Amino acid sequence: MGKAVRRKVIIGNWKMHKTIGEATAFIAGLTPTAKEVASMVGLAVPFTALASAAAAAKGTVIAIGAQNVSQAEGGAYTGEISCAMIKDAGAIFALVGHSERRRYHHEDDGMVNRKVHGLLAAGLQPVVCVGETLSEMESGRMKEVLHRQLTQGLHGLTAEQLEASLIAYEPVWAIGTGKAASPEDARLAHAYCRSVIKEVWGEAVSSKARLLYGGSVTVQNAAELGHQEGVDGLLIGGASLSLNTFSEIVRKF
Ligand code: PGA
Repeated sequence: MGKAVRRKVIIGNWKMHKTIGEATAFIAGLTPTAKEVASMVGLAVPFTALASAAAAAKGTVIAIGAQNVSQAEGGAYTGEISCAMIKDAGAIFALVGHSERRRYHHEDDGMVNRKVHGLLAAGLQPVVCVGETLSEMESGRMKEVLHRQLTQGLHGLTAEQLEASLIAYEPVWAIGTGKAASPEDARLAHAYCRSVIKEVWGEAVSSKARLLYGGSVTVQNAAELGHQEGVDGLLIGGASLSLNTFSEIVRKF
């Protein structure tokens, strides 16, 4: 049996950056590049720019998503935004469990799991972020942490739902630090994540699962990281803020 060919996925995560005007101008600028490449190109935009970004991306190949979503379906949750609301605004995916959400907003694996199920039930694609912190890595607990985040965060997903989702391996020590994982470390971590998926969902599902790398991706390291065996694409923070830089990365896929 040949190896599964999985289309590359390149997603920008703007975090708390960009006004509506900046977002729509960026999308207009990115559209011709995104059209040329074979990979899926996505942007995780702030809630405030979601509807305008989705409108600007309509008819293009650029997928627009949110950076977070509430675990609750609706009701008295001041300040929260539901799956139905982001879908209504035009999102087709949402990041879940980003390390900044885990760290600053106490998002745990149970919450991640509820968000993942909520998104799938709404017909949206979860991009589930996992990754170990520096101290977890230094104390030799990387695998233990990834195992817990994957099995608990993705608990109860059917094979079909797992295949419809994206998983982003983002070592926390590499996010925004300028210290990306080495291509070899990224490959090994992805292989481990895939082995966890195999353990729970079986070989066929694990070979179809799509795993992205994130953490200090730059124009310089993008191609090598993104083309490692078992790496299906990239989740890009800082380097997704500049249209030129992000376009240059997208062109490599
Ligand atoms: P970075 O962020 O590329 O700026 O390291 C990645 C992320 O947080 O998704």
